[in-house]
Amino acid sequence: MKGTILSGMRPTGKLHLGNLEGALRQWVTLQDEYKCFWMIADWHALTTSYGNAQEVKQNVLQVALDFLSAGLDPEKSAIFRQSDVKEHAELHLLLSMITPTPLLIRNPTVKEQARDMGLIGGDEEMVKINYGLLGYPVLQAADILIYKANFVPVGKDQLSHLEITREIARKFNFLYKAIFPEPQPIIGEYPLILGTDGRKMSKSYDNCIFISDSPEVIREKVGNMFTDPRRIYRSDPGHPDECPVFLYHLIYNESEISEIKEACQNAKIGCVECKRLCAEALVQRLAPIREKREKLEQSPSLIFDILGEGARKAKEVASATMEEVREAIGAW
Ligand code: TRP
Ligand code: SF4
Repeated sequence: MKGTILSGMRPTGKLHLGNLEGALRQWVTLQDEYKCFWMIADWHALTTSYGNAQEVKQNVLQVALDFLSAGLDPEKSAIFRQSDVKEHAELHLLLSMITPTPLLIRNPTVKEQARDMGLIGGDEEMVKINYGLLGYPVLQAADILIYKANFVPVGKDQLSHLEITREIARKFNFLYKAIFPEPQPIIGEYPLILGTDGRKMSKSYDNCIFISDSPEVIREKVGNMFTDPRRIYRSDPGHPDECPVFLYHLIYNESEISEIKEACQNAKIGCVECKRLCAEALVQRLAPIREKREKLEQSPSLIFDILGEGARKAKEVASATMEEVREAIGAW
């Protein structure tokens, strides 16, 4: 094994193609080479969804289904729910003692999230947000450090959190005892996936295709997708590079890419037909995941057993680290 990895996702809903292509596919391959911990970060979800806690609970099952059907393997990795390993909360608390507030107030990712949610106007208003949201990166640092993870596969938006994690690790190692590695990001090369409206795929834009969407829903969503805005009439030549549908062809329909590109540029194919081909390719490519998900959906108790076993494995490591941490701090 080349080292330890931890990553996680917040259970704020079902996972979409952006999550699949931008993260899960890579996680699946990492399982063979690293000791992996894949976490459903339900406490992190509460930093913004504290008013919809029951939804968070239901989303945990949905995310677990998405994880498993995409190929995360409980035999190889620990797949678990954050709140099942209470040690994260204790480490979060202890790390908060050595985390300077300005480090958190400056954090661009939380700032952007707070702004998107309408919680703050200008930057100077960061002091108004709830303490839990401000401390989001400290909890994330605890998630990572408690497994002494060397690598964290994340999107670019999470790099600032990883920087804070390293800063906290350095401070702990310096103040008490050098027990934490400084975790490095793994930024994968992944294809750009846009939402059905041509913007970034995001639940808040209502433009997602979900991993769990049925073939009918996929056909309908692809059928309604935005296309090249300059192609108004069927006889207009199209610009595939400016069309989100074409991005899907690039990923899911490799064998027909050059044909479709040429046909679009010369107005030999209409967008309706092009989208039909796209939807079929997508449906076909997602079929193995869909079939696996349908089977797993039949046995929720199996999913909870898997999460229980994952938590047990995670706890083994987390509780050993906590003993070291308590001893290093020396207050007990
Ligand atoms: N903040 C991450 C996100 O929104 C989720 C997360 C929580 C995470 N804890 C983590 C990611 C630890 C990597 C490592 O995507
Ligand atoms: Fe997009 Fe296809 Fe229409 Fe070209 S033919 S603009 S690639 S949907």
